[in-house]
Amino acid sequence: MSIQKEIKKITTHTLQKMKASSEKIAMLTAYDYSFAGIFDAIGVDVILVGDSASNVMAGHETTLPITLDQMIYHAASVIRAVKRSLVVVDLPFGTYQSNSDIALASSIRIMKETGAHAIKLEGGEEVLESIQRIVKAGIPVMGHLGLTPQSIYQFGTYAVRATQDDEAEKLQKDIKLLEQAGCFGVVLEKIPALLAQKVTQSVQIPTIGIGAGPYCDGQVLVMHDMLGINTEFKPRFLRQYLNLHEQITKAVGQYIQDVKNNHFPNQSESY
Ligand code: KIV
Repeated sequence: MSIQKEIKKITTHTLQKMKASSEKIAMLTAYDYSFAGIFDAIGVDVILVGDSASNVMAGHETTLPITLDQMIYHAASVIRAVKRSLVVVDLPFGTYQSNSDIALASSIRIMKETGAHAIKLEGGEEVLESIQRIVKAGIPVMGHLGLTPQSIYQFGTYAVRATQDDEAEKLQKDIKLLEQAGCFGVVLEKIPALLAQKVTQSVQIPTIGIGAGPYCDGQVLVMHDMLGINTEFKPRFLRQYLNLHEQITKAVGQYIQDVKNNHFPNQSESY
């Protein structure tokens, strides 16, 4: 008889407990079956199927062009590999901003067609009604404040947000509104570390930082940036753990040479 070890799945409740016990949350993006399987097995707590897929998977300059159908394709691929991690999927630009009916319909499509565990959307007070309705429908929602890339043309720059009092005050109000509306967590992107600390201490739900300093309850990075697949994007907040671009260049260069020189395949690699 084989004794199968039961896998303890991460849920939104696990994340609340992690915040309460000061255990940091490790979140990472993934967009396909193969990488999601590796990250899940290593122990990434939350896998984010980010709309950064628009940049790193599709080569767009911004996150705006990716569609709901494309996000659903990525999310369904990720879900097929995942046994333990909580999988959160971004609502892409244009699928929730116009009204709460559309926001709810988009969220339901993601949950129904991908099997994902939660959705994420950008913004505070502006999207509150949508968050309330999505939560009411039984769908866990993660917020996203600070540098919200879907508003890049309004910001005009990817510089640090909320450095001025008015924007910092709005962010402090917004996080409270998101918590009251039932969000189970909030991403804080590119804001001063001390502001992130203040808002993290002001709520019971976990904050996940990217470029928001060490005081958040967890951290998130885009996999292509931290693995060094994408080597041109080098913001100060990014720690590159690997230079996969260099390693792939070497390996594929060697493969090309082997094929050209008739060194691949050899006898033992042939039938
Ligand atoms: O789309 C994404 O990858 C994100 C992270 C940067 C938080 O939203």
